[in-house]
Amino acid sequence: MKETKLLGTTIDDLIVAANILKNGGTVIFPTETVYGLGANAKDDEAVKKIFIAKGRPSDNPLIVHIDDFRKIDNYVEEVTDIAKKLAARCWPGPMTLVLKKKKCISDIVSAGLDTVGIRIPQSTEAREFLRLCDLPVAAPSANISGKPSPTTSKHAIDDMMGRVDAIICGKPCEVGVESTVIDATGDVPIILRPGGITPNMVKAVCGDVIIDKGVDGVEVTDKPKSPGMKYKHYAPSAEVILIDGNTIQEIVEKIEAKIKTSKEKTIILCSEETSDYFKDFDTMCLGSRNKPETFAKNLFYAFRECDIKGYDKIILEGIEKEGIGLAVMNRATRAAHK
Ligand code: TXA
Ligand code: MG
Repeated sequence: MKETKLLGTTIDDLIVAANILKNGGTVIFPTETVYGLGANAKDDEAVKKIFIAKGRPSDNPLIVHIDDFRKIDNYVEEVTDIAKKLAARCWPGPMTLVLKKKKCISDIVSAGLDTVGIRIPQSTEAREFLRLCDLPVAAPSANISGKPSPTTSKHAIDDMMGRVDAIICGKPCEVGVESTVIDATGDVPIILRPGGITPNMVKAVCGDVIIDKGVDGVEVTDKPKSPGMKYKHYAPSAEVILIDGNTIQEIVEKIEAKIKTSKEKTIILCSEETSDYFKDFDTMCLGSRNKPETFAKNLFYAFRECDIKGYDKIILEGIEKEGIGLAVMNRATRAAHK
């Protein structure tokens, strides 16, 4: 067990955190997507500590975070035309660009690939921390591998107390699901993992977009383009049953059939549009079906709260795969996959 320092977001605390990271330590920091578990991306020994703290398989590469686009040339061989366009429109923000890496980025970060995922987060606390580190910071989501990503400092503490050197306790994350991972090495952007930057936004910027096959299903091959997609992910301890349907009535009927036959301690994660139908049952409302961003913000938070409250089963109302709804349904499908 390590001693874990709990810090706030004052400049003094961010300086303490940056010094811990510069000295080879691990620091959890808030971003607008989810909390990240950071270490110096140039230091093999520091990066190994991330994999140990998370129990993460070593063939799953890490995203490298920087505070300023002008620094990107230090870490990648070539900033392609589409990367320049996407960076200009979507950074800082919930987007990771995969580009050919330079040698200074540890091979442990890239899991032996010749590419690296780079992200400039929107969160001002995150960028201030990165600026003070003045290093490329490798950071996966700050959860034990396989669990939902933490979107509050409390959830990061639940998983990582005693496993990292410091936790910067900031605000709850605004976006709530991880960044959109885009392969930007070629002429056409390929979305490897959906997130806050939607396919339509990418298409509007680049004129074209490809959505990788791994995004929609869970049956992925041994060698997906984004290695993380082959692992079961984002799953609470409770069993997740994902309900889809074309109309509110169909969804309500399907949920009713499931809840009435359930013998375990069960909760329904529903929408504003359906919650009135389930007054006799335990429910948590994730937001409006017309506002998928509220579902994104609340999904991982709700998964973790359901575990804390001891539910055995979660019946989860699915939404349309439009906009950020694609990212919500990608995470939901993976959580429900046995
Ligand atoms: O929002 C986020 O992206 C958060 C915050 C902390 O920035 N980070 C995050 O990291 O979600 P992680 O490690 O949980 O997910 C990284 C994903 C994995 O699916 C991984 O396979 C993919 O990005 N990835 C990383 N580097 C890659 C590369 N060179 N090529 C393809 N996929 C890559
Ligand atoms: Mg993760």
